[in-house]
Amino acid sequence: MNGFFIVIAVVVLVVLAAVALLGAARRRDTDSATGSLSRESIKRDRAARKEAAEMVPTGPSGQEVERSVALERRGGGDLEPVAAATPAVFVPPDPEAYDVSRRQFLNRGVIAMMGLSIAAFGTAIVGFLWPSGSGGFGSKINMGKVTDLQADIGKNNGFLYKPDGRLWITSYPASALPKAEQVYAPAVLNSLKAGLSVLYQKCPHLGCRVPSCNSSQWFECPCHGSQYNQAGEKKGGPAPRGMDSFATEISGGNLIVNTGAVIQGPPIGTNTTGQEAEGPHCIGAASGGH
Ligand code: FES
Repeated sequence: MNGFFIVIAVVVLVVLAAVALLGAARRRDTDSATGSLSRESIKRDRAARKEAAEMVPTGPSGQEVERSVALERRGGGDLEPVAAATPAVFVPPDPEAYDVSRRQFLNRGVIAMMGLSIAAFGTAIVGFLWPSGSGGFGSKINMGKVTDLQADIGKNNGFLYKPDGRLWITSYPASALPKAEQVYAPAVLNSLKAGLSVLYQKCPHLGCRVPSCNSSQWFECPCHGSQYNQAGEKKGGPAPRGMDSFATEISGGNLIVNTGAVIQGPPIGTNTTGQEAEGPHCIGAASGGH
């Protein structure tokens, strides 16, 4: 949600910057075109037009003159040969007008380049911050029907791994709920009440990925030997608490896990299920819940 607001803020800033730049460019162009210099140019233009109008020939057209000359050569005709009209005086274009156009072109080119740069930068930021919509880690993930999850846990020897959520799902016994209600936050209890423990794979000691151990039916960290029961409650090793969890909810029979809301594991000594090791350990030996 925070990311969304940041994106909106960036878009608004980019649009405001572009509007400010375009406004400044228009003002500069207008100033250049209507300043004192331009008034001079207009005055000169007016004088030049007046002069040119005065010099417009009023006699017969060139075609008529040519025809009369041709008839004259042939010895007859209706038209009198007439004198050619004085050609109009060449009026050079106003150099100030040239200059203004060049400045306008350069100004607009620079502003267009800046606008494109800002737009590209803004697009890159928005693309970076925009939520992917893939429903991956960091978002709410629908893990599927609770009944299907229970069945999958049974098929996977008691431990169901969900890589998209970087989490484990195990069964939680209904008989342990009264104790759990004394320890766990409501967002964790939501899944426990549905018979499911949801546990972040990251070891709360130094962050290694904690694998399951089929023989002991615990989680056992290969890095420094921390051990946790199936509910993620610490049984041994240097970890400062039990395995972390996520905020959960049950919606329409589905387990929804908010992987953006990590909830710290239970304190050392928590043992709501009373599950002891069910066989040999995979990593070292339990040191007795310290
Ligand atoms: S990281 Fe797991 S015990 Fe140290």
